[in-house]
Amino acid sequence: MTIPENYSFIQYLKAKKTVDDIALNFHVLKRLSKFLNSRSKENPLRILEIGSGIGTMLVRLLEKNLLYHTVYTAIDRDISNVRYTKQYLVDWDVQQDYIFEENNQHSFNLIQPGKHIQVNLEAVELMEFILRERPIHKWDLVIAHAFLDLVDSSLVIPDLLDLLEDEGLFYFTLIFDGATILEPPIQPEFDHQVITLYHQSMDFRETNGTPTGGSRSGRRIFHQLMNAGANILSAGSSDWVLYPQDGGYRADEAFFLHFIIHTIYEELKNHPQLDPQQFKIWINQRHSQIERGEMVFIAHQLDVLGTGKQKMKHLSNE
Ligand SMILES: C[S@@+](CC[C@H](N)C(=O)[O-])C[C@H]1O[C@@H](n2cnc3c(N)ncnc32)[C@H](O)[C@@H]1O
Repeated sequence: MTIPENYSFIQYLKAKKTVDDIALNFHVLKRLSKFLNSRSKENPLRILEIGSGIGTMLVRLLEKNLLYHTVYTAIDRDISNVRYTKQYLVDWDVQQDYIFEENNQHSFNLIQPGKHIQVNLEAVELMEFILRERPIHKWDLVIAHAFLDLVDSSLVIPDLLDLLEDEGLFYFTLIFDGATILEPPIQPEFDHQVITLYHQSMDFRETNGTPTGGSRSGRRIFHQLMNAGANILSAGSSDWVLYPQDGGYRADEAFFLHFIIHTIYEELKNHPQLDPQQFKIWINQRHSQIERGEMVFIAHQLDVLGTGKQKMKHLSNE
């Protein structure tokens, strides 16, 4: 594809779906899947997904036939993502056999024989949601996908564990962990400098005055979880690995790659340690590599599954 003129975040999340499908750690997901089919319609599994974007994780779990009797609450602070989620689900459902039943503007059901999935959507800031819900609601499973490196996870994790039922699980996935690889090289020293500064920009990034997880969020998550009293049941890598096939990329992955390069550009375009002209040429060369179907992109990420403060005996003994 040619270099995009617009970089819509929603289009990026749509393009990211197939990348993440392949990246998610199979063993961790398999361990989770044993837990998902454990409920009846009268006593559905209550799942909370935070930072749910446009709902790709929900679609993924449906595509994998992992959801049965479930109430799925998906929250994101960006109202345009939340609004688009319903459209995304409806478009997906057109090719599926689910009955789509609208409850109200923010809630709908997906129904098949033996499956009843109620989806509740809300545009809300995570901390506001936690403060409101913690005294009144608990969940069987909390999912955070491509999210925990965007917040200060050492602060957020104890609050998320508080939202879990005694035997509830967390499934925290695609947590970035310190490696961004772009091949083939352009100028090895400059390549290295750009990636180092890009990682540093993550380390110094703040959202609303609070630090985010930084470029090594993945490796730090283990002790943050253990310090908060969690028990890790399964963990593994979920690296993004994109490479050309037959001179191009799968699905909408060329857009995904252009978006990544554009993100690096936006992050570093005014960086005092980079020569602006050299950086602009470097960015254009990376976009051209994508257009020619030459670029390989790898990012190291981690997935973790575990229980909150109490152990799930039947899972931890396996
Ligand atoms: C990288 S995107 C991932 C979205 C989705 N999980 C996916 O992978 O397709 C992170 C999402 O988290 C949301 N987000 C970031 N900080 C948040 C916060 N403090 N509270 C709620 N949502 C937040 C953003 O609006 C964005 O949609």
